[in-house]
Amino acid sequence: MPRKRSVREAEVRGRRVLVRADFNVPQESGGRIADDRRIREALPTLELLKRAGARTILLSHLGRPGGQRNPKWSLAPVAERLATYLGQPVPLLGEIVGPSVEARVREMHDGEFVLLENLRFDPGEEANDTAFARALAALGELFVEEAFGTVHRAHASTVGVPTLLPAYAGLLVEKEVESLGKLVDGAERPFVALLGGAKVKDKLPLLRSLPGRVDRILLGGALAFPFLAAEGADLGATEVEKGLDAALKEFLARAEALGTLVILPEDLLVERPGNPTAEAATAREVPSGAIARDIGPRTRDRFYVHLSDSRTVFWNGPLGLAEDPRFSPGTREVLAGLETIPGYHVCAGGDSARIAEELGVVGAFQYVSTGGGAALEFLEGAELPGLAVIPDAPG
Ligand code: ADP
Ligand code: 3PG
Ligand code: MG
Repeated sequence: MPRKRSVREAEVRGRRVLVRADFNVPQESGGRIADDRRIREALPTLELLKRAGARTILLSHLGRPGGQRNPKWSLAPVAERLATYLGQPVPLLGEIVGPSVEARVREMHDGEFVLLENLRFDPGEEANDTAFARALAALGELFVEEAFGTVHRAHASTVGVPTLLPAYAGLLVEKEVESLGKLVDGAERPFVALLGGAKVKDKLPLLRSLPGRVDRILLGGALAFPFLAAEGADLGATEVEKGLDAALKEFLARAEALGTLVILPEDLLVERPGNPTAEAATAREVPSGAIARDIGPRTRDRFYVHLSDSRTVFWNGPLGLAEDPRFSPGTREVLAGLETIPGYHVCAGGDSARIAEELGVVGAFQYVSTGGGAALEFLEGAELPGLAVIPDAPG
């Protein structure tokens, strides 16, 4: 992929720079930020802009408020965290666009920051409405795309504004493209994809893109259930996504034709009503009434063997219901094993990064992406509208 025009090459002194960041951070019920990786990862660009004397106007969404103002999704906690990290005030403007915001940003000084309120409070954001994009663009003179986690969305702030202003890639976007790009181009083999998580339908496009590009696909989590069911396993009372048989068959046939090994769990940890402790079962037969929740110990060992000689590993999706300590051993043990294996290991996915952190095994990865859906689409080889719109570097 050709290099994008970089914020490092932009003339920003004394100019108003709109920075689209992805501050869509996980929050606890009281609004406390549960994981601020996405904020921390944007800091190098923000510090660069501050040193260079830019007047930085920050833009982000948070959650899915559906085009309506909702205090639950205010960016106030983000403004506070940014101020702490940057060591200077980051005022949150109550509005997103309009005369009062325009007047406020015209008073900014070099090296100052402001944050606009949640872009998705305005229905124009997700609709990529032209008038909303123009009103945003009117606030700044340059645009920097730093929201890697949102480049797969064609919204007013990710596509509309960068078509109206000179647009540059931020440092995080550059780092993501380079780090994830190593999995797309020239990854060292054996290359193993370790996949889990909850919804097969969400992961199908990625799965389909892997045969031939990776040597082995290890499937855990609820992702493995429809595969097991299609092979005739009895999964007891486990909820299994339906209507996927034809797609899975086609995927397996392609994987076989292209020499990619697909490994399914041979045993599981299950939850039986009335028993508070996890029980082991074979993946062929889960006791009736029981629900499969994690991969079992034999599968963990098998996955470890298939990882042990790898040179490149991509992980997305917990291998079980890892938020519950009874069903976290699959994810924890396999990733703890991965930590001892040399090579280039990448983690992507909103829940995956958070869970690896919580389980203390994030050290298994040389790179942790801030992207969820965006990272998966990047790896699939899909065109990302928020990247496509940034001009390539000259030369
Ligand atoms: P990411 O956001 O990293 O792409 P997903 O959203 O696909 O990951 O998956 C996250 C969820 O999948 C987690 O909350 C995890 O606990 C859950 N999960 C994985 N396996 C199971 C299972 N067997 N039963 C229930 N939940 C599961
Ligand atoms: C994400 O968390 O994946 C990004 O912030 C995009 O959010 P969205 O899925 O609500 O568009
Ligand atoms: Mg998720």
